[in-house]
Amino acid sequence: MASLPFHTFLGQTILNLHALIIIRKGLPSFCFFVVFLLTPTCAFSHIRQGFEEDKGRKYDLFPEILMEEAVARLNELGEVSDADEYLQRTFQSPASIKAGNLIRLWMEDVGLKTWVDKMGNVHGRTEGINPSAKALLIGSHLDTVIDAGKFDGSLGIVCALSALKVLNMTNRMGRLRRPVEIIAFSDEEGVRFQSTFLGSAAIAGVLPASALHVHDKSGVTVQDALRENSIETTEENLLELKYDPESVWGYIEVHIEQGPVLETIGLPLGSVKGIAGQTRLKVTVRGSQGHAGTVPMNMRQDPMVAAAEIIVLLEGLCKQPEQYLSYDGECRASEVQSLSGSLVCTVGEISSWPSASNVIPGQVTFTVDVRAIDDMGREAVLYELSKRMHQICDRRSVFCKIDRKHDANAVVCDKELSLQLSSAAYAALKRIKGEAAIDVPALMSGAGHDAMAISHLTKVGMLFVRCRGGISHSPAEHVLDDDVWASGMAVLAFLETALL
Ligand code: GLV
Ligand code: MN
Ligand code: MN
Repeated sequence: MASLPFHTFLGQTILNLHALIIIRKGLPSFCFFVVFLLTPTCAFSHIRQGFEEDKGRKYDLFPEILMEEAVARLNELGEVSDADEYLQRTFQSPASIKAGNLIRLWMEDVGLKTWVDKMGNVHGRTEGINPSAKALLIGSHLDTVIDAGKFDGSLGIVCALSALKVLNMTNRMGRLRRPVEIIAFSDEEGVRFQSTFLGSAAIAGVLPASALHVHDKSGVTVQDALRENSIETTEENLLELKYDPESVWGYIEVHIEQGPVLETIGLPLGSVKGIAGQTRLKVTVRGSQGHAGTVPMNMRQDPMVAAAEIIVLLEGLCKQPEQYLSYDGECRASEVQSLSGSLVCTVGEISSWPSASNVIPGQVTFTVDVRAIDDMGREAVLYELSKRMHQICDRRSVFCKIDRKHDANAVVCDKELSLQLSSAAYAALKRIKGEAAIDVPALMSGAGHDAMAISHLTKVGMLFVRCRGGISHSPAEHVLDDDVWASGMAVLAFLETALL
């Protein structure tokens, strides 16, 4: 798949005009303004405060819900961890269950009907005026990486809840033209089972039944982990989780950018054009275990140094694919060219056995994560890695094996949904900042998202939110309070324009 070009100047101008038309069409309406004025003093004093602070402007800004409460909820979720010293919530862990219960309470506070499904996803749904209309799904994930930041995943859930809360408090939730369902997905990071999207793939109907039998490092299977939390999932009822595509209108997800582009250009929100494809491997290298003091260097079959050589090979291959990939007339130069812009490869986890300083290891295992916009190019890299890895292992007389743990092809976001999200982001920024010309750029995502799995079910669109230093998967991950506000306001503007 070719990478998508950035918006042309003309395209961006059309986009901006579109946003202006939506704003001029009347957000918020006069009726909304009257309802607002008639609302009881105590319940809505904070809304009025937000309004009065900005009374020179036309819009209600709801800072206490979209910003203060949302930030407080992100902080509260950020404390729900399986570890004392850092944030970690993996699939069906005690902290994940606690976080899911908290999110469910917040969903109930908004007046949503809630349930937890057979994959541990937490759902909250409002039917609007037509329960049989195709539903809008809004989601993100409640699990985290190890030593995580508190915005990855949580931001998308919390800002969607805030936006619906504003609609509920202003008596508009019941007037939505179609059902809206927020889903907090149980597993996007894939930390525990190495197979990402357990929750969203089940809903999209692309999770194989065999996923139930994948086990974690302690031998606990996905099925066992669910059972420990009183969720009885079988191969049969797993299939029932799949949503009927005819019952779904589309899916949107708000997520931190996890990269530096928005911060560099000084903008809080961007739309997402597409998401890079990804593959995760587990590489096992087996050699000859021995005494560190007695086996001469030229008589060793050391899997650690073989692993080191393979990892350095991977770095070279992904930094300069054109120097490694062979052309056979079929392997196109354009493929390699488009690869070099987006290809990234990472070894994030490595372990050795028996892992002692005075023992030549018998076995080393490590993970490989490969991502690129171009699916064929990613395959070419994986083929080349495997070929050259076996050459290294033969030369070093060790045994090498690759297990493919996860694959997801690149995804192109729906153009119309992206345009609607861009317009909503534009409207949100204009409301909050009161400035006329705020750009909403379109970005590619190198990170994986539940939207990838849900793209098998329905059209998907995403909004990215600026994060400090572009840092994510780290406790240093940070989103400004104002940008949390902008995210919730963008979801609100989207719901107001697309569904009211
Ligand atoms: C999820 O955050 C991923 O991209 O690995
Ligand atoms: Mn993540
Ligand atoms: Mn994420």
